[in-house]
Amino acid sequence: MKAKKTTRKGFGFWPGLLVGLLLFWVLARPRVDLNQVARAMYNFIAPYYDPLLELSASLPEVRQMAVDRLELRTGDRALEVSVGTGANLPYIARRIGSTGQIFGIDISEGMLAQARKKLATVPCPVELQLGNAEDLPYADGIFDAVLNLGAMNFITDRKKAIDEMVRVAKPGAKIVFADETLGPDGPVRGLLSQVVFRLVPRLRPPINLVPEPGARLSYSANGFMYIIDWRKPSKVV
Ligand SMILES: C[S@@+](CC[C@H](N)C(=O)[O-])C[C@H]1O[C@@H](n2cnc3c(N)ncnc32)[C@H](O)[C@@H]1O
Repeated sequence: MKAKKTTRKGFGFWPGLLVGLLLFWVLARPRVDLNQVARAMYNFIAPYYDPLLELSASLPEVRQMAVDRLELRTGDRALEVSVGTGANLPYIARRIGSTGQIFGIDISEGMLAQARKKLATVPCPVELQLGNAEDLPYADGIFDAVLNLGAMNFITDRKKAIDEMVRVAKPGAKIVFADETLGPDGPVRGLLSQVVFRLVPRLRPPINLVPEPGARLSYSANGFMYIIDWRKPSKVV
């Protein structure tokens, strides 16, 4: 009898190699302004970003899980910080419907240009803007949910970016961020991840930077992505 072939959802060789090279850059040049590196790098990568990520079998699972954690409802106003080419827009739009609204901000004009090409297919209004996650151009407490996927490791001041996500979220809103890591999965992976975290501290899920207690840390993509989510406390009356 033929054994059933099992597929292990990995990251895919080429996206894995790309991520590895980017992370090496982070490791090798810790004093550079990562925001400017990210901007230049993503401006260059932008036209190839979507085809490259199609090679990763696990990304749809990560996107779905992160967006699920936002606990969106019909008519919500959602913000994606570091929206990139807009790959998460359909996932968010599916939840908030045509009465909802999405805001997206990114430091790379090249990535935003790719995102703009997709807007006609998104069934709700989307407002895209160029800007830095560390200094969001939005008023306090106006979003029902705030997402950041695949950017946190490359933001120069991650604490500032997380505080900004909290500031613009409404009281009671869900906030989610996710990025690459090496999650512990058994004793060997556990040991290896400790070594990797020492070499590249930025790969450690930065749950310690969340200003409120009770944030949840989960893993997706076979432990290669962390997802951190929590709810901004409601106002005390
Ligand atoms: C790996 S892409 C992820 C894009 C999208 N969120 C996705 O899930 O496909 C990372 C994005 O973060 C953006 N980025 C990096 N640093 C940023 C910063 N300081 N402020 C805003 N966006 C930033 C990059 O320009 C890039 O578009």
